[in-house]
Amino acid sequence: MDRKNKTSIYEMDPEVKKRLINQYFIELQNSIFYATFATIFYSKSMPGFGHFFKVQSEEENEHAKRILDMILERKISISDKDPNNLNRDLKISSDPLTAIKLSLLQERKNSRSINELMQVVTERDDFFLQNELMWFVKEQREEETLFENILKKFELLKNSEDRIFLIDKDLKKRKRKEKKKKD
Ligand SMILES: [Fe+2]
Ligand SMILES: [Fe+2]
Repeated sequence: MDRKNKTSIYEMDPEVKKRLINQYFIELQNSIFYATFATIFYSKSMPGFGHFFKVQSEEENEHAKRILDMILERKISISDKDPNNLNRDLKISSDPLTAIKLSLLQERKNSRSINELMQVVTERDDFFLQNELMWFVKEQREEETLFENILKKFELLKNSEDRIFLIDKDLKKRKRKEKKKKD
C-alpha cells in the first residue's frame, strides 16, 4: 500500500474503520449474550453461575468502551448505513455445561475477529491501534483459558452428583477486573 501521499499517518483506512465498528458491536453483543445467561442462572437459583456471567457481561461492556475510545480518537462516525452485524441468532442454553461450552465457542470466534483486526492495522502500519489492540489479544487468551478451565472442572467432577453445586460455589468467588485507568 502506498502511504507516501497520505497527509497523516492517522488517516482513517476504510477497512480499519469497518472492522473497528464491527468489533464495537461484537463486544456489545457479547455483553448482552452473557447478561442473558446471568438472568437464566439467577432465576434458576444458581447464584454462582449467575454472578460469573454477570461479571463476564460487565467486562464485555468494558471492552466495548475501549473500542469506542478508539473510534472516538479517530473521529469515526457510525452511521445507520454501517452494518452492525449483530447476530440475533446466538444460541442460549439454561444448562450450565452447555452455557460454558457456548461461551468458549463465542470467545474463540471473537479471538479470530481480534486477530484479523490486528492483522489489518499491522498491514497499514497503524502502530497506535496496534498498541491498543495488544491488550485485547492478551485478554482473549485469558478468556479462552477461563472457560477451558471451567470445562476441565466439569470433567474432573463428572462422577460427582454435586458437581453443579460445587462449581456454582466456586464461580461465586469470581472478582471483577480493574477498570481501564484512563477513565
Ligand atoms: Fe470482549
Ligand atoms: Fe470476551
